[in-house]
Amino acid sequence: MRKRKHTLIAPSILAADFSRLGKDVRAAEKGGADFIHLDIMDGHFVPNISFGPFIVKTVRRLTRLPLDTHLMIENPDSLLEVFQKAGSNHLTVHVEACRNLRQTIASIRELGMKPGVSLKPDTPLSSLDDILPHVDLVLVMSVQPGFGGQMFMPESLSRIRELSASLTSRRLKALIEVDGGIDSTNASALVEAGSDVLVAGTSIFRSPRIPSAVHALRRSALMK
Ligand code: DX5
Ligand code: ZN
Repeated sequence: MRKRKHTLIAPSILAADFSRLGKDVRAAEKGGADFIHLDIMDGHFVPNISFGPFIVKTVRRLTRLPLDTHLMIENPDSLLEVFQKAGSNHLTVHVEACRNLRQTIASIRELGMKPGVSLKPDTPLSSLDDILPHVDLVLVMSVQPGFGGQMFMPESLSRIRELSASLTSRRLKALIEVDGGIDSTNASALVEAGSDVLVAGTSIFRSPRIPSAVHALRRSALMK
């Protein structure tokens, strides 16, 4: 088994109220969030447009937490530095969106960020075989990327189990992050399966008390 001290919680601001973004981000921080997750969508790789580096830069000024930026964009190479300059600490790209993934991951590291790779629910885990030794995190999508507020896909659990077993057998230390439809009903199963980081948008930012929602998710992640 891979050893994990505690589950990390990464609230996704996609579900925040942008008319009071500062308050929402600080409330998540107060509740004990570990990262702030930022979803960048280009309208090509996914059928939706969210926000760009300007918002990453804005959030950088609101918190000292690590910014965990998830790029759902085609051919991200020309934009890596823009997101680094905006203040991203982790930068995750999609295996389906990169022409030369190994090079993209190396560039992210050269820019001083922690590289991550993500995959859509229908993409086979084997597409990550070659890149696993080079990334700091693997972001497993548990919904089709593009929108917040979707239902968690339960088949993600077996993918996480398989990925976790593969990292263990190869003695690799990448964190497993899961993203989409996460709330207190599925958190403990996700941790049990091997997840290290839980991304949650709706269940945190659409709750009446954001700090308590972060606490509640962490508590439920601990329960067996
Ligand atoms: C979906 C995004 C997710 C999303 C999660 O494409 O990558 O990060 O914001 O939101 P919820 O928790 O609402 O499913
Ligand atoms: Zn995301």
